[in-house]
Amino acid sequence: MSEEKQLNLFETDVNSKLRLTDPKTPILPGTYKTMEEIKNDCERCHRCDLGENRTNAVIGRGNPQAKIMIVGEGPGQQEDERGLPFVGRSGQLLDKILESVELNSDRDVFISNAVRCRPPQNRTPLVKEIAACKPYLLEQIRLVNPKIILLSGAVAVKALTGDRRGISKIRGQWMEWEGRLCMPIFHPAYLLRNSSKEPGQPKWLMWQDLQAVRAKLDELNK
Ligand code: URA
Repeated sequence: MSEEKQLNLFETDVNSKLRLTDPKTPILPGTYKTMEEIKNDCERCHRCDLGENRTNAVIGRGNPQAKIMIVGEGPGQQEDERGLPFVGRSGQLLDKILESVELNSDRDVFISNAVRCRPPQNRTPLVKEIAACKPYLLEQIRLVNPKIILLSGAVAVKALTGDRRGISKIRGQWMEWEGRLCMPIFHPAYLLRNSSKEPGQPKWLMWQDLQAVRAKLDELNK
């Protein structure tokens, strides 16, 4: 092997080690060609302390070619154990809500989170953890290239767009982020704590929002 080739390999190796350990090392757009490559790196990632205690890095589930991407907050215990997002009670409710507007969570959406490793005791991910993990989310969005992004809960909204407003204020309103159509929606865990389906209540509002998403998707598909 030529010296130049050896040097190139060495530099690539150093850079990939750095990007997995140093949150200040950027992960440039185009670093990954497949979701599998993102998964491989996330499983070895220590850009933040969440990597110390994970069972599995939780990358995504659903269809990586879907027109809709959903971003949540971060994995809980069941997600950590299974290596898949939204597979606990919140996830079951999310699937049901999607089905109510004829969206199937395996076929019609790709689901991911602001962070890919479980925060201890399911606490909210810290700003530095979200920042360290954000390049993976951005790469996932780039690969999926969704027409619509649903931001589930205030943490997801802030993680992606920086918008710090409360979710009750902004849910159901279309917003643009980096030229993409996004809608903040409630987090399903919030709906589990507020089970009334009466008009004006969170579950009812969520259903209104998902109907608006369905209508937008149908319009885009025309
Ligand atoms: N809550 C989230 O925000 N994400 C998950 O993956 C599970 C629960």
